[in-house]
Amino acid sequence: MKKSIKDLNDIQGKKALVRVDINVPLDADKNVTDDTRIQAILPTVNYLKEKGAKIILMAHLGRPKGEWNKEFSLEPVAKYLSKILNEEVIFVSTPVGEGAEKELENLKNGQVALLENIRFYKAEEAKDDDMTFANELAKLGDFYVNDAFGAAHRNHTSTAKLAKVLKPAVSGLLMEKELRCLSQALDNPARPFTAVVGGAKVSSKIGVLENLIEKVDNLIIGGGMAYTFVKANGGKIGNSICEDDQLDVAKMIKKKAAD
Ligand code: 3PG
Repeated sequence: MKKSIKDLNDIQGKKALVRVDINVPLDADKNVTDDTRIQAILPTVNYLKEKGAKIILMAHLGRPKGEWNKEFSLEPVAKYLSKILNEEVIFVSTPVGEGAEKELENLKNGQVALLENIRFYKAEEAKDDDMTFANELAKLGDFYVNDAFGAAHRNHTSTAKLAKVLKPAVSGLLMEKELRCLSQALDNPARPFTAVVGGAKVSSKIGVLENLIEKVDNLIIGGGMAYTFVKANGGKIGNSICEDDQLDVAKMIKKKAAD
């Protein structure tokens, strides 16, 4: 099992830099319309509060693609968090740089801050980033927590690279729970075992599909990538999304299923 925040001793007064997935839907007036993801991080936030850590939450909202676009600001989410925690959550509008470091220096034990959308920085998603951005972010915390299961498949600075430069790096309680459920489902499943996999691209799921096909009784493929399978199977898909260079892969997965 991965190390979690429960394995850390003496974190009172330490700054926890916590990647969370609070990519929640907002209406036109910026009200949160479904807070499931916010509720899901509360066990980690409350645990760190109880232990007296200073909590710095880091997250994305939507896909602003490296542009500073108010439309994707996390400020409304900070307000919502303040309401449900019943205390002020400090919103840090410019997460990187001396200003942010100073602002966070004043955090009290058990207090929570939320950084502005980390995807406003191009370096967050840049494949050729030389860790400069990771090192900048690392200055904000004394240790790193990844509780963003929903974004953990992204090889981004805040989800992956930070764990290499900010130690100790541990999982949060939501991540721990998701990994436990996932390994129970995969290692010792109740049968019949059916997996439903969606998403647009076969190319980014080959590993998952090949792995699942060995374990499941039924594999249901939905989302955009279903069309690649339909076409590989001789069906007509009109103008629907399709990865023509993955037709052989789709055929291979179907053959494995039949075998
Ligand atoms: C999600 O909403 O699925 C997660 O927050 C990940 O978002 P992304 O697909 O934009 O990386």
